[in-house]
Order: sequence, then structure tokens, then C-alpha cells
Amino acid sequence: MVNRLFNKRILVTGAAQGIGLAIAKACVAEGASLFLVDIDGERLAHEAETLKAGGANIGHQIVDIVDAAQVASAVRRAGDELGPLNALINNAGVNVFAEPLATSDADWQRCFDINLKGAWNCCKAVLPGLIEQGGGAILNIASTHAFTIIPHTFPYPLAKHALLGMTKSLGLEYAARGVRVNALAPGYVATQKVIDYWNSFPDPEAAKAETMKLHPGGRIASPEEIALAAVFMISDECPFMNATCLTIDGGLSVQQHP
Ligand SMILES: NC(=O)c1ccc[n+]([C@@H]2O[C@H](COP(=O)([O-])OP(=O)(O)OC[C@H]3O[C@@H](n4cnc5c(N)ncnc54)[C@H](O)[C@@H]3O)[C@@H](O)[C@H]2O)c1
Repeated sequence: MVNRLFNKRILVTGAAQGIGLAIAKACVAEGASLFLVDIDGERLAHEAETLKAGGANIGHQIVDIVDAAQVASAVRRAGDELGPLNALINNAGVNVFAEPLATSDADWQRCFDINLKGAWNCCKAVLPGLIEQGGGAILNIASTHAFTIIPHTFPYPLAKHALLGMTKSLGLEYAARGVRVNALAPGYVATQKVIDYWNSFPDPEAAKAETMKLHPGGRIASPEEIALAAVFMISDECPFMNATCLTIDGGLSVQQHP
């Protein structure tokens, strides 16, 4: 399929690698123009230039989404380079995992700053333009951690629960202005973040095998499988999907005793 995102101008955060990069590639394949942001400038520039070399209409900027001024400047530049944005994909996020009582104030702050406040900074910067144009779409990359808890992953699931709350809240607030706000909840996805998680165990290979065993299909998702769902949710193919969350986890989270 091609051109399902024709005329879409989309800001994607955390686009330098993993799920964000897979989403960027899938959106380009469907004809979108993209403004890519990430805190990792070197990797971002490399991926953006590669996409541009393939003929895509791409802008990019180093942005720490925690800094509202940096986000606002990127949104302005995206408008100048591509035209008014009509979609935002809030993908940037980090794992912050600890035993609750061992969580430092700094880790708590970092977790909520990036996984929640950063996403809000982007919504706040993009929403006025969407409203002015009569509508648009926001997709927040949440997680199955937005409605289930894996022990010892505190406080990451709290931030993802709140991100889902923000999705519902903004979806309700701006529905009458034509803005759809939804979330996508991946289970485990094969990205560096998950490899780092496995490497945090004394036996990474055993941790990986345990993760695979948890899944009804015996495997985890590829970033490209998450990107397919993101394209659908940001496209005009689901105009009445709003303030909700689509789970893509191979059936992991519906089991009572995985
Ligand atoms: N990988 C999984 O299993 C999984 C599962 C569920 C949800 N998610 C969510 O999907 C999203 C992407 O995860 P991933 O696995 O691709 O991660 P990743 O670590 O591979 O990529 C995340 C990207 O975000 C960027 N980033 C981090 N902090 C930033 C900041 N402050 N400002 C701008 N960019 C920043 C990083 O530089 C990186 O390029 C995250 O929100 C994550 O919580 C991932």
C-alpha cells in the first residue's frame, strides 16, 4: 500500500532508533512528510539523511522533549519547513525500573519528565495548530505497562498509566475540534531498550528466554509490527477512533497467569 498518509505532516519524537525509527520509515512509505526529533543528534541526523536520500520529505532537529522551549522551537521549524503539522507521534520514552523504596528522587523525576511531561510538552506545542486547522491526530506510544504492572519496574508503569490518562483527557477535551488523541500499547518489542533490560539480569540469555516463554506465540514484536498499527491510527482510516488505546502484544496481557 502507498499514500495512506499522503498530505500528512507528522512530528515523530524519539525517531533516531527503535520503534520511533520504524514508525518514521513506515510513515514515509505511506507518503507522509515528517519532522523527526530526538535527543541523540548523531543518530538522528544519520537516519534523517538516509530517509532524505531515498526521496522522503524530512526535517529534523535535536530536541530534549523535557525542555518545552526546545519542543516549541521544533514545532515552529516543522511548520516553516513542511507546512502546518497535522499529526504528532509521541514516541520518545525511557525505562526507569527499581524496587519502589529504592527509587531515588532523581529517577522518579527523570521517569515522569521524559515519559509524561515530555509527551505533554509536545501535545501542548502541537495542539493549537491542529485546532486552528480544524483537526488532526495525536498518537501516544504507551505500553502494556499503562494498565498492568510487572514487579520491580517501578515507577515506569505509573508514568505510562498517566500517559493513558492524558490520552483520554485530551481526546475528550478536543474531540469537538476534530482532534483525535489515542494511545498504542506495545508489549515487548525487539529494540535496544529491551536488550538493555535483558542485560540488567545476571543471565541475559535466560531473561530473554523467559520473556519469549511469557508470550502465547513464543516471540516478541518487531518494531515494524508496531509501526503498522501506528500508521493505521494516524491515518484517516479510523476517523472515529478517539481517546482509546490499541494493544499490540501478541496476547500477552490477557493471560491470567502467564
Ligand atoms: N521496546 C519495548 O518493548 C516497548 C514496549 C512498550 C512500549 N515501549 C515504548 O515505545 C517507545 C519507544 O521505545 P523503544 O524501545 O523504541 O526505545 P529506544 O530506547 O530504542 O528509543 C527511544 C528513543 O527516544 C529517544 N529519547 C529518549 N529520551 C529523550 C528525550 N528526553 N528527548 C528526545 N528523545 C529522547 C532516545 O534517544 C531514542 O532514540 C517508548 O515510549 C517506550 O516506552 C517500548
